[in-house]
Amino acid sequence: MENFIDPRRVPKRKLYTGEEIPCIGMGTFGSDRFAPDQVSSAVAGAIRCGYRLFDCASVYGNEEQIGRVFAQAFAEGVVRREELHITSKVWNDMHGKGDVLLSLAKTLKDLQLDYVDTYFLHWPFPNYHVPGCDGDSRNPDSKPFSVAEFMATWRQLERIHDMGLARNIGMSNMTIPKLEAVLPLCRVKPALIEMELHPCFQQPELYDYCAERGIQPVGFCPIGSPNRPDRDKTEDDIADLQVPELVEIARVHNVHPAVVCLKWAVQRGQIPIPFSVHEDHFVSNLRCTVEDPLTEEEMAVLKSVDKNCRLIKGQVFLWPGAAGWQDLWDLDGTITR
Ligand SMILES: NC(=O)c1ccc[n+]([C@@H]2O[C@H](COP(=O)([O-])OP(=O)(O)OC[C@H]3O[C@@H](n4cnc5c(N)ncnc54)[C@H](OP(=O)(O)O)[C@@H]3O)[C@@H](O)[C@H]2O)c1
Repeated sequence: MENFIDPRRVPKRKLYTGEEIPCIGMGTFGSDRFAPDQVSSAVAGAIRCGYRLFDCASVYGNEEQIGRVFAQAFAEGVVRREELHITSKVWNDMHGKGDVLLSLAKTLKDLQLDYVDTYFLHWPFPNYHVPGCDGDSRNPDSKPFSVAEFMATWRQLERIHDMGLARNIGMSNMTIPKLEAVLPLCRVKPALIEMELHPCFQQPELYDYCAERGIQPVGFCPIGSPNRPDRDKTEDDIADLQVPELVEIARVHNVHPAVVCLKWAVQRGQIPIPFSVHEDHFVSNLRCTVEDPLTEEEMAVLKSVDKNCRLIKGQVFLWPGAAGWQDLWDLDGTITR
């Protein structure tokens, strides 16, 4: 089949647990633009073309539709459950005592699974906003980061790991100061940490910090999320797909600049999780991991295009009294309280 990339050819990443997982996955956040059925149809197509890792989350509002696709793929023998690595995430309004288990139960019911491969703590705050809200939206109950609150939630993830309901547990949207505070307290170390990573936002310190500790970085918005929600767009944002050096490398390889972003991500070592509902796009995103790698020189050029340009600033999670979105990211090296 022309659009099938044999998953055995797709490079793997080894987690500290010894488990091997694909070097690329598919994102499933419709960015408030794509309906649940559009996203789940893309997942169905992606399974058939050879994707074996899917990044889900309860807040994406489409796990029920994606679950039907998984069930059908298993029933039709397209893929076996144990061949897939399926992640999900507990949303910010489900950090309270017992709520993580409840949240996971709903996710497992919706995804029609007995376990997830990785369960992430989606954001390190119990700060909630309504799906689809605008960028000025604030919840007056939002609070700054608290080690005690975070660890109380992480203990629940450790419990569901003990119960076998999540084979791995992970964190997302963390910073080095927050990790310094919580990692020594973890009974179960995160196997993966999801973070924003694309050529114009490479987060070298956080990337290295995780890699040195055997924690696998997963890169979200790997293409620079050109269709992200309007609340996540500002005038100063730089479009990765228009960076001249990257466009030139794409020309040389005769591929779309999006594909160069993904080749760079895979060759650097993070697991990118690009999203697309278009088959030609998601097929080329997977295929690029098995052919025509970037040269060392091209990798060096791409390393130099980092502009420290964070796109997902998270300002909707700010608490009353916070100065600005930078407060979420501990830019001065200490946890902002
Ligand atoms: N942990 C977190 O807090 C967090 C935050 C954000 C995102 N995520 C995860 O990361 C995933 C990816 O992030 P994202 O969806 O925001 O951004 P992204 O993957 O960087 O960008 C997605 C966009 O790129 C375009 N695209 C994809 N492949 C392409 C290709 N080959 N050629 C041209 N255009 C292409 C798609 O447009 P077309 O539809 O036209 O193909 C799509 O709209 C999400 O789906 C979600 O699973 C996690």
